[in-house]
Amino acid sequence: MNRLGIMMLEPDLFHSFYTGMAEAGENHNIEVVLFSPLQIHPHTEWVQGYRYSNEIGSWEKDIFTIPEFIYDRTFYQDDFASKQAKAIAQWLKNRDDLCFLGYGLPNKWTIYQHLKKQDKVSPYLPETTLIESIPESIARIKKDKLVIIKPYDGAHGNAVYEIEADQKEMTIRTTKKLEMIEKKMDDDTLARWLEGVTRKKSFIMQRRLENTDDQNRPFDLRILLQKSEHEKWIVTCKGFRAGNQNSLLTNLSAGAAAIPYEEWKKNQKQYNWKYIESELSEILSTLPVILEEEFAPLFEIGLDIVIGKDSSVWILDMNSKPGHKMLQLLTHEEIKQIYSLPLRYCKALQRKMPAAGGEST
Ligand SMILES: Nc1ncnc2c1ncn2[C@@H]1O[C@H](COP(=O)(O)OP(=O)(O)OP(=O)(O)O)[C@@H](O)[C@H]1O
Ligand SMILES: [Mg+2]
Repeated sequence: MNRLGIMMLEPDLFHSFYTGMAEAGENHNIEVVLFSPLQIHPHTEWVQGYRYSNEIGSWEKDIFTIPEFIYDRTFYQDDFASKQAKAIAQWLKNRDDLCFLGYGLPNKWTIYQHLKKQDKVSPYLPETTLIESIPESIARIKKDKLVIIKPYDGAHGNAVYEIEADQKEMTIRTTKKLEMIEKKMDDDTLARWLEGVTRKKSFIMQRRLENTDDQNRPFDLRILLQKSEHEKWIVTCKGFRAGNQNSLLTNLSAGAAAIPYEEWKKNQKQYNWKYIESELSEILSTLPVILEEEFAPLFEIGLDIVIGKDSSVWILDMNSKPGHKMLQLLTHEEIKQIYSLPLRYCKALQRKMPAAGGEST
């Protein structure tokens, strides 16, 4: 029996997605384990992790060898443990006796630089610049009037700032503890502030897209793409996310609401949905393939699509480790199908992997 290891920085023993996967494992003849890269013994390579017990219906502590298939769900921060875990994950990815379901995407800036050269997707990308020279960045803010700056290895809406330039002054807006706060300042103060934030992290700049509805709520379309057992990309979930009135973020972790696709569409008649949907199908048929060609094999992609007031369609963000919160829009049966997808895909990989008893192709 092959083993699929769910890898997380801190194993979450109560997440329904992972227990759901583990329960589905039995039907697919795959044993699902849960572990942290920090819990691999460097010499013996034994892992102190968790094995799911179907009898008692929960994860139990166990020790095992590194599983041959890995579903990478590690989310890194800036701390020492994350740095260590990242290096271990890279070591695992480089081993050819192990197989990751997906090998992840680089940061937003690297993705942008690669995709900008691809004619099929470049028209959908908001122009993005890396903040390097502060005077040049201030000049861009003055030219565009309203911009967003955000860390290029962003996480769940953290450190996303809107900067507005008018005749008199600059205004920075951001979200702190789910509340919008704003500060007005002159050019010199803004320059010092930009220097401060970009010293700790690299930031990118884009113009602020007009992603607000008639109640001035920011919204976007979240599409979850996953690979089937036949290695075809399928849309397994799509829905809109609407943030708080007059706010900035559409991240569900920042308090946005998840709304079924058809319900939102029905209530937003001012958009040209025929045009939007033809643009979306163009994106869905080209982007996943391009991402895999440019970077590495993937199992799932969370796409954030912004729809402008003029029905323009923008690819704002793509994540190879998407959150699964939007699954709340699906029925129990549909969610169960999604729990089994990583297992089905794992079997497809198994057939190709000689070390796991499959045929070499
Ligand atoms: N150019 C923009 N125009 C309008 N809103 C934006 C823009 N960039 C970001 N936002 C808002 O900020 C949110 C977070 O931005 P983004 O998705 O790029 O990064 P993130 O969610 O922090 O990163 P990750 O998804 O990798 O964790 C978006 O969902 C959107 O609501
Ligand atoms: Mg995002």
